[in-house]
Amino acid sequence: MPTVTSPLRNDRLLRALRREPVDCTPVWLMRQAGRYLPEYRATRAKAGSFLAMAKNPEIACEVTLQPLRRFPLDAAILFSDILTIPDAMGLELYFVEGEGPKFRHPVRDEAAIARLAVPDMEQDLGYVMDAVRLIRRELDGQVPLIGFSGSPWTLACYMVEGGGSKDFARIKAMALNHPQALHRLLEVTTDAVIAYLGAQRAAGAQALQVFDTWGGVLSPAMYREFSLRYLQRIAEGLERGEGSERTPLILFGKGTGLHLEALSQTGADALGLDWTLDLDEALRRTGGRVALQGNLDPTTLYASPDAIAAAAARVLDTYAAGNGGSREGHVFNLGHGMSPDMDPAHVQVLVDAVHAHSQR
Ligand code: CP3
Repeated sequence: MPTVTSPLRNDRLLRALRREPVDCTPVWLMRQAGRYLPEYRATRAKAGSFLAMAKNPEIACEVTLQPLRRFPLDAAILFSDILTIPDAMGLELYFVEGEGPKFRHPVRDEAAIARLAVPDMEQDLGYVMDAVRLIRRELDGQVPLIGFSGSPWTLACYMVEGGGSKDFARIKAMALNHPQALHRLLEVTTDAVIAYLGAQRAAGAQALQVFDTWGGVLSPAMYREFSLRYLQRIAEGLERGEGSERTPLILFGKGTGLHLEALSQTGADALGLDWTLDLDEALRRTGGRVALQGNLDPTTLYASPDAIAAAAARVLDTYAAGNGGSREGHVFNLGHGMSPDMDPAHVQVLVDAVHAHSQR
């Protein structure tokens, strides 16, 4: 357990995720720590690489806190990556400049799948848990800390493709030719995700998000079989506590708006939405079963300050209009992560606009 006991001074995020009243709508941004911040680039230059940063708890803590020193964000998110789990399973993660993540040992056949096992969370992923404990101590109750994992399907995409992909040809061929083999891969990965999120919670994470970044590349039937089923298992199998002590689980999906009804019935506490649907429609289709997080188009941050403030107000008011005038149950975020060439001054405009416009 974390060594800190300071009470949380800003609990807007947790209240919104529990759909309780808040003084204004909480806001955090996916990829809020990263290359758009000069102080991140300076830390990265000293550390040498992204992986060296993520595997060093002091540096991961420093980088987690950097955006919070600039902007009045309502949450911190652990600085790490979704690909830590397959790395710990022995696939060996590395990055090629300009090409993104890669694995030295991708999983391409049944023998490789049979060798996969759930990593030991404190032995093999202890650097992540140490970072969580350290960040909690350093935050000292300023805002809650969000832990995260990739979804089993999204992790499987990288594990089978060996990196990013345009068409996901290898994993889709595996799904069609050897569905039982892919299900075995997804089962062991789901067990690892549940253990990983549980260990982050035990180390001090106060909310948990699962990123299903590639759920939207599947046909509806394949999505239900290869992604939704395992998200459901996570929502059912992950111990989260009760009442005000509950650690909320947010399921973020990109391009998965078609499946909102089903996602809202998994037992997750909240859904993270991309920008391709309106929040009033999402409210109708999720029937008050979950809180909603999102969903400003991230490229809005390239627009002028006035346009950013207007677009943020539109997202806030679309939610309220669909919720009987109430802002309860809404966490403001982008519909996907920030990009390295975004202007930090525009992030300031966005965060201030969300708080000002949603003030009671
Ligand atoms: O949101 C945050 O601030 C927390 C940190 C975070 C990172 N990755 C840091 C990171 C989170 C939550 C992730 C999740 C992640 N990683 C996802 C799911 C979210 C999403 O974007 O859909 C995925 C698909 C990955 C895999 C991954 N890791 C990619 C595609 C990349 C980008 C490669 C590139 O060259 O841009 C990474 C590396 C990575 N993870 C960076 C950061 C800040 C860039 C690191 C750097 O070059 O300094």
